[in-house]
Amino acid sequence: MNRKEFLKRLGMLTVGATLIGADVPALAAQAVQEGTTKSPKSPKTHPDLDFAVRPLKAQTNKVVTAIIIGAGSRGTTYGKYALQFPDTMKIVGVADLNGFRKKRTAKAHNIPAENCFSDWKDVFAREKFADAVIIATPDNLHFEPCMKALEMGYDVLLEKPAAQTEKECKAILAQAKKHNRIVAICHVLRYAPYFIALRQAIHSGMIGDLVSIQHMEPIQYAHMAHSYVRGKWRDSNQTTPIILAKSCHDLDIIRWMVDRPCLQIAAEGTLMHFKSENAPAGAPKRCTDGCPHEATCPYSAIDIYVRRKRHLGVFDLPDKRDEAAIMEKIKTTMFGRCVYHCDNNQPDHYVTTMLFEGGVTASFTMDAFTPWGGRRTRVMGTTGYIEGDGKRFTVYTFRDNKKRVWQKDVKELGEYKHAGHGGGDHALARDFVEAVALQDPNRLSSTIDASIESHIIGFKAEKSRKSMKKVKIG
Ligand SMILES: NC(=O)c1ccc[n+]([C@@H]2O[C@H](COP(=O)([O-])OP(=O)(O)OC[C@H]3O[C@@H](n4cnc5c(N)ncnc54)[C@H](O)[C@@H]3O)[C@@H](O)[C@H]2O)c1
Repeated sequence: MNRKEFLKRLGMLTVGATLIGADVPALAAQAVQEGTTKSPKSPKTHPDLDFAVRPLKAQTNKVVTAIIIGAGSRGTTYGKYALQFPDTMKIVGVADLNGFRKKRTAKAHNIPAENCFSDWKDVFAREKFADAVIIATPDNLHFEPCMKALEMGYDVLLEKPAAQTEKECKAILAQAKKHNRIVAICHVLRYAPYFIALRQAIHSGMIGDLVSIQHMEPIQYAHMAHSYVRGKWRDSNQTTPIILAKSCHDLDIIRWMVDRPCLQIAAEGTLMHFKSENAPAGAPKRCTDGCPHEATCPYSAIDIYVRRKRHLGVFDLPDKRDEAAIMEKIKTTMFGRCVYHCDNNQPDHYVTTMLFEGGVTASFTMDAFTPWGGRRTRVMGTTGYIEGDGKRFTVYTFRDNKKRVWQKDVKELGEYKHAGHGGGDHALARDFVEAVALQDPNRLSSTIDASIESHIIGFKAEKSRKSMKKVKIG
């Protein structure tokens, strides 16, 4: 990719910033003047790394209309973009089996009753009535609605993982090409200012040629218990293997940072801890059944949900401070189960190594047993090194023995304040709106081609883990 194309993919062509050297701050300042970026206070960011950040409002002269299919956590997140920028996107329909969520969404977006559906299939029983659909149903309900939406001429914002098998992923790609439609996969990290800047730093020349990457996804022990032991993604057969369900973002971001095809992958990983043989003596099926270990177990549902009030979105509670209501939920739902007595099969640690074209290597580690979530990344180049923690990264250059820091708190970036995933959620929505309005898939960095490629890396990783062999890609 030449420099011009690289800048274009980053959405920076209007800024025209040179990526290294003294002209970056000047051009960023010029961009501020031209209204292409806000001027965030970023006292800790070195001028050489002070890359411009695009505002969140889509640059279009049309309001894109969309239907939310699956109005849970993710569907609601993209809906909030429409509420923040109503002159760029409007939600005109909703489908959700859950009546509470359907009504909540209809009310928030003022959706007429005739455009409110229960099952996703009902949306497509009607003639096409919007530009796009947002598919945010569970993992096993991505493929069918996506194929149908494309056939009917909708553009699609599709939650990850795109589908449950490599074959289905390829079918979505083929269907998008056949009907000449835009499909944006929600690989939101690509849109987060932190990762955009990290990628720019890697390819700026500051660290010479990229040699290898070490990337880690710490899941955080309570998040692991909530989602991958007790919760909705605990069974890889009903959803997808955890390397896709949780970490397809990371394989995608590694592929994006390397910017070369992955040639082969090897993976290891097991479910070591969350199994019945590790249950402490006398642990009952539920934390609320008088467990003798409740006061000391880090995975106690009473501690996670009632005391710490974490992950409460799944309960649809009118008042999240109502401890009696939370207690009732953990007595009656899957989320109150003992983590050693669940029907889970996802590994709790997973390691992969990757070889890319040109000899670049990467290693990726997903770990349940960490106190915090987020991402940690180390990048090795021929003349420098970068280390980042998902919020701040430092570039070390060998010859001049200097270090330069990038640190921009997304909360300081004005309208990015309410966008999750380090700002990536709403920046993706912005690019999707622009792509649909202009009918230009290149507005997206997570194009369907790029996203299916990184999904395939995930499926090959799982094949490697199961077969205990390296697997070639492509
Ligand atoms: N991009 C990301 O970073 C990210 C983060 C979390 C989850 N996800 C993915 O987003 C998707 C949704 O996750 P979520 O956390 O919002 O889940 P959720 O359970 O909160 O929402 C899913 C919604 O789909 C509805 N639904 C189920 N079957 C339906 C049907 N037949 N027709 C219509 N609606 C139906 C459910 O009632 C629910 O409200 C999942 O595939 C998940 O893996 C992506």
